[in-house]
Amino acid sequence: MATTIPAAAPAVAAAVTTPQDRAVLRDGSAVLIRPLATGDVKAIITWFEGLGPQARYERFLASIARLNDRTLAQLAQVDHQEHEALIAVTAEGTTVGLAQYIQLPQTGTAELAVAVADQWQGRGLGSLLLHKIAARARAAGIRWLTVECLASNTAIARLLRRLGPVLITPPAFGVIELRIDLGQASTTAAR
Ligand SMILES: CC(C)(COP(=O)(O)OP(=O)(O)OC[C@H]1O[C@@H](n2cnc3c(N)ncnc32)[C@H](O)[C@@H]1OP(=O)(O)O)[C@@H](O)C(=O)NCCC(=O)NCCS
Repeated sequence: MATTIPAAAPAVAAAVTTPQDRAVLRDGSAVLIRPLATGDVKAIITWFEGLGPQARYERFLASIARLNDRTLAQLAQVDHQEHEALIAVTAEGTTVGLAQYIQLPQTGTAELAVAVADQWQGRGLGSLLLHKIAARARAAGIRWLTVECLASNTAIARLLRRLGPVLITPPAFGVIELRIDLGQASTTAAR
């Protein structure tokens, strides 16, 4: 598969992709949380392979058997400014979680998306990734995060409420938009 990923400015990428946070999850398992390196298509493919059909549908709002080159390139094209992504990596080097945001220019808003590999759900990883990506968004001056999801996706709605007040649009074709205000303190402490 030939995928050309435009390189970000090296100085910027090197400065923000180096730090890794080791996190111990609810069940005692450990992962490293780090920014996705620009163009790291391999990490995205292993993450996607860990998602079952339902998680894929909830993440992409479509039934997807494999990521096409265009989507892969878009996901990998992080510049750590307008487009940021954090991944969770196991001791074996498998990417099991990915949270990303893409800023909408001059709106103080970024579109957020997250998914955790089926085998790693329910351990607190989704919550952790969301808190970390929200902290990065705040630091980047982003006020609102928006998430498009199925109206039936109560799990993500519940997690997002821990980041700040959430506005929900009425469903259209079973899809809603959740809008999180990062400008006010969340009522629930980060976990
Ligand atoms: C949403 C998602 C990221 C959560 O990841 P996770 O690692 O399982 O999250 P956590 O373990 O931190 O927390 C799961 C929480 O959701 C709750 N939950 C799980 N399924 C639920 C459901 N069907 N209804 C309500 N709550 C649910 C759990 O009880 C837990 O709550 P708690 O922290 O109070 O115990 C994961 O389910 C996922 O990848 N889903 C598919 C992709 C997706 O829906 N993305 C959102 C749109 S972009």
